[in-house]
Amino acid sequence: MKIITPEISEQVICQIRRIGGMLTNPLAVKSVDFKKPTDFVTNVDYTVQSQVRAALACLTPDIQFMGEEGPKEELDLTKPMWILDPVDGTTNLIHNYMHSAISLGLLEDGQITFAVVYDPYTSECFTARRGHGAFCNGRPVKVSEREDISESLVTVGTAPAWREFADETFGDMRKIYDKCQDVRRSGCASLDLCSVASGRTEGFLELYLLPWDYAAGTLILEEAGGRVTTPDGGPVRFDKGCGILATNGLIHEQLMDIIKG
Ligand code: IPD
Ligand code: CA
Ligand code: CA
Repeated sequence: MKIITPEISEQVICQIRRIGGMLTNPLAVKSVDFKKPTDFVTNVDYTVQSQVRAALACLTPDIQFMGEEGPKEELDLTKPMWILDPVDGTTNLIHNYMHSAISLGLLEDGQITFAVVYDPYTSECFTARRGHGAFCNGRPVKVSEREDISESLVTVGTAPAWREFADETFGDMRKIYDKCQDVRRSGCASLDLCSVASGRTEGFLELYLLPWDYAAGTLILEEAGGRVTTPDGGPVRFDKGCGILATNGLIHEQLMDIIKG
């Protein structure tokens, strides 16, 4: 994180916590629009994005901004960039399922260097700076030490906006289910990554996600001692979407073999 100081990063975290309060108001969702038949955006997504963007513009006026909502702008990927998912877990938000987060990562020189994932329902704020560890509300978090898939809990995302992956997703889920203790489906990819980072689960798989879903969570997981790749073991990219396989590191090869088999 060369571009911002620890003081500025603390102010960013403070703003995310403040703005995140909006998600917990069950009456906040007033309009739901369809981006695809199973991909939604609400007035809350737009409001959170514009408030976070405004706060970042004050604190870091020289850093570019990429957000999930609204028209996509011309961005220079070689220059520092914020990557924001204003509401990760919009379907959960619409149903008042109370499991959604604001997810914000800073991309610098092709890698995420600072990350915040804030869950306003539990008030848990996961943060990381590259090389400085991962934290939840200021306390260090680390991945679990479970070494075998048979003792693991694994979340699987269903890539709901890309139904063409459904057979593969549910095929993989079944293969994983047969080998692990149990599977979960949370509806919030950034918190799935934080769950692995904090040792609550051992793995997470989703066959297609977009950079704002995983930018922040991947750094938090890596700084907590975990490993994140594409499902076939390749590097994660931030210029476009990819599948994500994230683990405590210890079961990574086992999960990769299971989904390959
Ligand atoms: C979604 C959530 C969900 C995942 C989807 C994402 P959104 O993000 O992270 O868990 O399964 O693939 O699109 O649309 O709520 O920001
Ligand atoms: Ca998302
Ligand atoms: Ca979103």
